[in-house]
Amino acid sequence: MILVAGSANLDFVVRAHHIPGPGETVLGQQFCTYPGGKGANQAVACARAGGAPTQMLLALGQDAYAEPLLDSLRSAGVVLHTVLAPDQPTGCAFICVAGNAENAITVAPGANAFLQSQHLPDLAGVSHLLMQLEIALPTVMAYAQAARARGVQVVLNAAPAQALPDELLQAVDVLIVNEGELAALVSHPGSFVLNLAQLAVPCVVVTLGHRGCVARVGNTFLTQPAFDVQAVDTTGAGDTFCGVLVAKLSQGAGMVAAMRQASAAAALACTVAGAQSSIPSAAALAEFLALAAPNGVDDEADLRRYCGLG
Ligand code: RIB
Repeated sequence: MILVAGSANLDFVVRAHHIPGPGETVLGQQFCTYPGGKGANQAVACARAGGAPTQMLLALGQDAYAEPLLDSLRSAGVVLHTVLAPDQPTGCAFICVAGNAENAITVAPGANAFLQSQHLPDLAGVSHLLMQLEIALPTVMAYAQAARARGVQVVLNAAPAQALPDELLQAVDVLIVNEGELAALVSHPGSFVLNLAQLAVPCVVVTLGHRGCVARVGNTFLTQPAFDVQAVDTTGAGDTFCGVLVAKLSQGAGMVAAMRQASAAAALACTVAGAQSSIPSAAALAEFLALAAPNGVDDEADLRRYCGLG
């Protein structure tokens, strides 16, 4: 059983030609709302695409924004531990999606910031705790340490980017970051090999967008080139990766197999608009992988070179 402890946001999304720079106004298209939040997206990915029994601890406001978030999680089969935050609105995210499928996101945490150490449910039966950084850092630390003390595997997606205290990293078994998040954690520029060696976490996975991903498991480096798709919206792709990776690990897969499944699910998530709305079913993921071409030797070599692995 996976427990995700983290954020749930209602995403307000507008597509525009490009993401506005400082002081710039762009005219976009009609806005849409989608269920989102890194925590909730990852819980849906664990359950729907990963097919793993999943619970989620989340905090919501007592407002109309909470309803579509509850509906989406429940319809994916996620069992909920919901904390109602008094006098706080449900978390919201304001997202601009550009014509090239990239996005820029601003989060108003609202009720997410209300989750505290005493809200952690009983960990009986939980094998993996999956967290992100859209809830308060002291809460993340308290949950990680409680899980570590119970022998639960702690997986942290350190997003959004921020520096982290050593006490937190010491309680983490698997750390998942993108390149920007990695840069916030390691103090000097250098190759992936050097940067990943610096992190005192047994396993670190770095997502590299269209290039793929790299993992350090102990002293061994593993790579998985990205699957080629026609991307329309990258929102939630990283969350899909995290959720499916943890689902597969919880089902006993090795890291190589889990990275392949997670990469394929993330690629599929880029082909549909929205966050949770874009997370594929387990059947769609299996079909995509069955038809996917094997990794190209050139892609693998390019990725290893990019990562400084020769
Ligand atoms: O990772 C994508 C998510 O980031 C969005 O769904 C948004 O809510 C923010 O949390």
